Amino acid sequence: MTKGFFITFEGADGSGKTTQLNKIKDLLEEEGFDVVVTREPGALLIGEKIREILLHHEEHIADRCEMFLFLADRAQHVEEFIKPALEEGKIVLCDRYTDSTIAYQGYGRNQNIKLLTDLNNIAINGMVPDLTLLFDVSTETAMQRVGEEKDRMESIGADFHKRVRNGYLELQRKEPERIKLINANNSIENVYNNTKNIILDLITHKEEKGV
Ligand code: TYD
Repeated sequence: MTKGFFITFEGADGSGKTTQLNKIKDLLEEEGFDVVVTREPGALLIGEKIREILLHHEEHIADRCEMFLFLADRAQHVEEFIKPALEEGKIVLCDRYTDSTIAYQGYGRNQNIKLLTDLNNIAINGMVPDLTLLFDVSTETAMQRVGEEKDRMESIGADFHKRVRNGYLELQRKEPERIKLINANNSIENVYNNTKNIILDLITHKEEKGV
């Protein structure tokens, strides 16, 4: 049992989730919470190397190799950073986590979802998020926001990104308690207000229950 609170931020490239994550970090710090921010892939030294391959390797990467690299990054990240931070009672804000693998490698790359779920469970060793925020945006808007400078994943075509989006929405329907849907087509302030309400609500709840 960990004392902290684990929140993951999910959504398409260009959904604006990282902007929201940083605003939420500032808010929670102002409220006096001990907050740490992290991301996948590439939070730690090993992760930096894996991230470089995943996002910038110029030759073909087999789908299953890509899948194991994201999972390997996650296993190290949980062990070395997320678990200790939660045990110290921190609020951990993580930019992408298990749902990215299901959405991108599962729905996007058509890898077996049941298998990916099992592999995710091995990688996270029990560290399931208390809350996941899904920033949903139309694929057209997301691609416009990403612009011309694309990394390896962003360069995959619109069909792939549409499958990813639908995959995320499907995950949200399956786990509505953990995953909260946020309409990210709106302005930054609008999206922020929704995000803030959801987070403060859940943190207050957790404190009231003393868990
Ligand atoms: P990043 O530059 O961090 O994108 P963003 O700022 O949108 O999070 O790149 C991460 C990319 O890796 C992004 O395209 C999603 C992809 N990804 C997966 O395909 N599977 C995963 O398990 C994770 C964590 C990320």
